[in-house]
Amino acid sequence: MTQTLIESPDQTILDRFRTEIQRRGITQAAAAKEAGLSAAALTQLLNGSYNANPASQLEKIERWLGMQAEQASHPEMPAAPSWAPTPTAERVLAALSYAQMASDVAVIYGGAGLGKTTACREYRRRISSVWIVTMTPATASVATCLEEICYALGLKSPPQGAAKMQREIIRRIADTNGLLVIDEAQHLSVQALDALRSLHDATGVGLALVGNEAVYTSMTGGNRAAYLDRLFSRIGKRVKLTRPTKNDVLRLSAAMGISADDNDSLRMLFEIASRAGALRSVVKTVRLATMMAGGASPALKHLQAAWKDLSL
Ligand SMILES: Nc1ncnc2c1ncn2[C@@H]1O[C@H](COP(=O)(O)OP(=O)(O)O)[C@@H](O)[C@H]1O
Ligand SMILES: [Mg+2]
Repeated sequence: MTQTLIESPDQTILDRFRTEIQRRGITQAAAAKEAGLSAAALTQLLNGSYNANPASQLEKIERWLGMQAEQASHPEMPAAPSWAPTPTAERVLAALSYAQMASDVAVIYGGAGLGKTTACREYRRRISSVWIVTMTPATASVATCLEEICYALGLKSPPQGAAKMQREIIRRIADTNGLLVIDEAQHLSVQALDALRSLHDATGVGLALVGNEAVYTSMTGGNRAAYLDRLFSRIGKRVKLTRPTKNDVLRLSAAMGISADDNDSLRMLFEIASRAGALRSVVKTVRLATMMAGGASPALKHLQAAWKDLSL
């Protein structure tokens, strides 16, 4: 008669695991998810009731422990600033405020990395009844666009069918004096844009269409123009953003601990901001440079090394 031998789990690994989750202050479930094993298996391993071969689970835990040690040996990457009052972002805030107060349509468009999305989030943080809905290539149609809006309004299971979703959205946003912000609006089909126009007409909530150049050109150029006349004629405010200003870079750099007197560093950050990644590249470079400086304010040499490393 053969007997299946069940290995007893390696206690040192499990002890190190217990110590590590305590050090990081995370739950067992969170650690299990990071390590790629089920929370149930982890609980059983820890309380000694796991009754299968634990080798592969222990291997996952050991790999996770290795990763923790690796991360602890690097100085921490500083967080990106959640908000800095850059002039460009202030222009976006002003346009959003106008659209909400005047129950009007605003179009805010321009290149990537200028701070449009950051400004929309800051506006929502400050003002009530503001919903941000982010479009993607997958949400271009009327039904998918309305579905995203339903989720943004907090509906867990939107009704089936565009007409029902539209009715539910109108019921929720009417009489709120709110603002519907559609980010990455360039992904929307003409019909979906027209559906937004009718939500605005039916409820009087402000509508802000935010995205790249195509947001505006799709409404004006080519053979789409006639179809979108109704929306176009309702635009009350148009903000076109081209490139970050020097003051954008100064404000953002100040929020990340770069001294306003450090002219050489600032000159370099202006140069970075003038390229395609705009303010996003500035933030990435300063974060990496801060890490390279061991967590202190980075000097020019750290910024240069970080920029080179990122090849932005
Ligand atoms: N006003 C700001 N405050 C803080 N960070 C900003 C600001 N503007 C831009 N950034 C930084 O630049 C990055 C790109 O900004 P984002 O708002 O995503 O740009 P856009 O939506 O125009 O592409 C953000 O992740 C953020 O780190
Ligand atoms: Mg954006």
